Amino acid sequence: MKKLEMLYEGKAKKVYKTDDEKKYIVEYKDDATAFNGVKKGTIEDKGIVNNKMSAVLFKILEEKGVPTHFEELLSDRESLVKAVKILPIEVIVRNVAAGSLAKRLGVAEGTEMKTTVLEFCYKNDELGDPMINDYHIEAIELATKEQVEVVKKYAFKINEILKEYFLERGMKLIDFKLEFGVFDGKVILADEISPDTCRLWDVETNKKMDKDRFRRDLGDVEKTYQEVLERLEK
Ligand code: C5P
Repeated sequence: MKKLEMLYEGKAKKVYKTDDEKKYIVEYKDDATAFNGVKKGTIEDKGIVNNKMSAVLFKILEEKGVPTHFEELLSDRESLVKAVKILPIEVIVRNVAAGSLAKRLGVAEGTEMKTTVLEFCYKNDELGDPMINDYHIEAIELATKEQVEVVKKYAFKINEILKEYFLERGMKLIDFKLEFGVFDGKVILADEISPDTCRLWDVETNKKMDKDRFRRDLGDVEKTYQEVLERLEK
């Protein structure tokens, strides 16, 4: 597989074309941003952790019937993926109040949600990724009604699979963000699942094992990212 020109550079990844028009190579970077790019930094070897962790999780999800863009791990920082067209929607799933939900609704961080909460945001840096609902998505044609239904079905299924998977490894899945893409006319899971995109708390101590360590200057950022990967590879 030949790596051709760069198609896109995001905050945490670069995407390259390949000699197969149906495949891209994703390269994970160590750059870290928070608060819509206001806070910037580097987390050493984060790209390696996020690449490997996404590979582990995408494989499990595929095995359990969730189609994903993942094809194969190419190197420490690179994966081969299907050339999807990303839907411009961030899908957030929450089991426990934290972050922006805790703030917006005045609910103490750590409060269990009575039911799983699903939120959508419009992926648009200029607008600061505003929260939207199903009606907005349809009204401005970010996705079709049918695509939204598929996204919701997969998001809840992914939550059930990952909650159990992390719990078996001593971590509570507080919340996470997903992105989906269209490939051969079908909606499939894309992007990454990593400590950048999930909140994970240690089951025993409630220690934060995710990007909040960077966002909130809690220290031991690199060490904690490595620990999450180690727990998954055990
Ligand atoms: O900040 P907020 O509480 O809304 O984040 C909810 C979840 O979505 C967190 O796990 C966070 O890491 C993730 N997220 C993300 N990318 C964004 C916004 C949120 O991965 N642009």
